[in-house]
Amino acid sequence: MDNMAYNGIIQKYRRFLPVEDYAEFVSLDEGQTPLLKAPALSRWISPHVTLYLKIEGQNPSGSFKDRGMTMAVSHAKFQGHEIVMCASTGNTSASAAAYAARGGMKCVVLIPDGNIALGKLAQALVHGAQVISIQGNFDDALTIVREVTMKYPIALVNSVNPVRIDGQKTAAFEIVDELGEAPDIHALPVGNAGNITAYWKGFKEYFAAGISTKLPRILGFQAEGAAPIVDGAPIANPKTVASAIRIGNPASWQSAVSARDESGGLIAKVSDTRIIQSYLQAARLEGVFAEPASLTPIAGLKMLAEQGYFQQPVTVTVTLTGNGLKDPGTAVEYSNSELQSIPPTVDAVIQSLGY
Ligand code: F0G
Repeated sequence: MDNMAYNGIIQKYRRFLPVEDYAEFVSLDEGQTPLLKAPALSRWISPHVTLYLKIEGQNPSGSFKDRGMTMAVSHAKFQGHEIVMCASTGNTSASAAAYAARGGMKCVVLIPDGNIALGKLAQALVHGAQVISIQGNFDDALTIVREVTMKYPIALVNSVNPVRIDGQKTAAFEIVDELGEAPDIHALPVGNAGNITAYWKGFKEYFAAGISTKLPRILGFQAEGAAPIVDGAPIANPKTVASAIRIGNPASWQSAVSARDESGGLIAKVSDTRIIQSYLQAARLEGVFAEPASLTPIAGLKMLAEQGYFQQPVTVTVTLTGNGLKDPGTAVEYSNSELQSIPPTVDAVIQSLGY
């Protein structure tokens, strides 16, 4: 096994996945993403925090969705489906489109009108998916996809499909494999709430198998204008700069609450101002460029530190869910860096350097 080439998360974690009967997998060698120690960001957050970043933007389509999608598309193929379908704020559609292409299947995606980051739209289009923009939000799109896939022979590949959760839990396995133990705290953004469900499942399974000796506290963070779980009610018109988590009625609401309560963690909300601040801090203090939604937990940890949450030294792992390149519009808008245009001379450059 040791000298076998890496072939993605199904091959690597097969004994923890419901895949016994699959004749073939649809994989793009997803997984095995870096767990990067982040000393400068740790110092910015709290002297008690030792921070590691799970860089999920380094998956094949640039987000954590690939771990779930290798499972969902393999499963759809095993069941004889030829079409997969999802609703998406962008990353699920990019991933579904890539894996469907890899598996020789058709992919249909429903996206909220005019509301997904440009890179993600480009991905779905270039992989040949049928992209349908609906005049509504993500929650409307998911409701429609659920009904259509119930009535027609089309496989639903949103995270309400349980095999998606099984695939995504492998990120928790990788964290424990690399640290040699579970962290004290794992923090991540919460949108449709599939990933928080997946991580908690993964940590619990490794603990049950005796691979870790403890369980982390799970800290989930929503954006202030899209925080139904924190506010305790669905939100009709969710709003946030973090378009990936602009969701008003998460499908896995209950299991997110269970992850929070069973782990002794919390789910809190942070402002867009804090999200953008953390987005720039990660990029400038650590050289890590993740999309805005990914920084929600960093903003949340900073906020908790200010409230005195960290009194003891703790190891904290954070999922950076998607690659910053997916959302160039937000990057350019908020980077506070002016593009100078000058004559093509040495003198002009020296002058602009301030010498
Ligand atoms: N971060 C990013 C970059 C995401 O794309 C998503 C979800 C989340 C966090 C939240 O994860 O939904 O499991 O709680 N994106 C979905 C999509 C909704 O359609 O791409 P979650």
